[in-house]
Amino acid sequence: MSSVPTILVFDSGLGGLTVFREIVKARPDASYIYVADDAFFPYGQHDEATVIGRVVPLMGELIAAHAPDVVVIACNTASTLVLPNLRSTYQVPFVGTVPAIKPACSASKTHRVSVLGTSGTVRREYTKALIRDFGQGCEINLVGSAKLAALAESALNGEDVADAAIAVEIAPCFLDGPARTDTVVLACTHYPLLLERFVTLAPWPVDWIDPAPAIARRTADLARGGSQPRRPARFIFTSGARPSPALARALAPLFTDFGARAVA
Ligand code: DGL
Repeated sequence: MSSVPTILVFDSGLGGLTVFREIVKARPDASYIYVADDAFFPYGQHDEATVIGRVVPLMGELIAAHAPDVVVIACNTASTLVLPNLRSTYQVPFVGTVPAIKPACSASKTHRVSVLGTSGTVRREYTKALIRDFGQGCEINLVGSAKLAALAESALNGEDVADAAIAVEIAPCFLDGPARTDTVVLACTHYPLLLERFVTLAPWPVDWIDPAPAIARRTADLARGGSQPRRPARFIFTSGARPSPALARALAPLFTDFGARAVA
């Protein structure tokens, strides 16, 4: 039987699915394991030392258990913090997800760009360095949301999420005046799950920048070769929980195996 690359996609929860679905389109032939660290969700509410102390050893266990050829950290809150540490600790190539500030600033016509992420991501020195290096003279408005990732999870779990609850979280992205905000970076992988609602609730139309297709291309480039036969795509919660019925329906086109354990 021929061997294919094994790609492990990791997030604090369900947001990484917005990256996962793009990677699967780019490499439908690979084996996939999606790990949602729901036992520790949301990462945006933990301090930096806590996220590093959680993700670095957990990744070691996941690599030992699943022997991936590429790992995608489909989480801005973790990537903006732990990538250097992961790369110096483990041999496997890592692809990260960081705020798409460069393409957003290149695309903006009004030079007013908002970056919508978790409170953790917008506080990071990494994000501030991206703005210094790639801001291209744009005025950049950092908007940290403590609630949107959880609202996106509720929506995917089939719960009602009120328009008002979403509108209040995205409102600070929209700066009016002679030059209005025309571009918003989706700097949390959960947010594209709510994109249709954002478009409807926005006070005026903007470009919403989702880096998932670019991350998928990078992952596809790195996923060459592979040492294991193809296996069914597997979805795992670190808590050992099973997906709710609504979530299981949403996941059904993407996964056939709902393994209860992240590590043996
Ligand atoms: N999906 C994660 C991100 O891209 C964050 C959600 C959380 O706070 O755990 O930042």
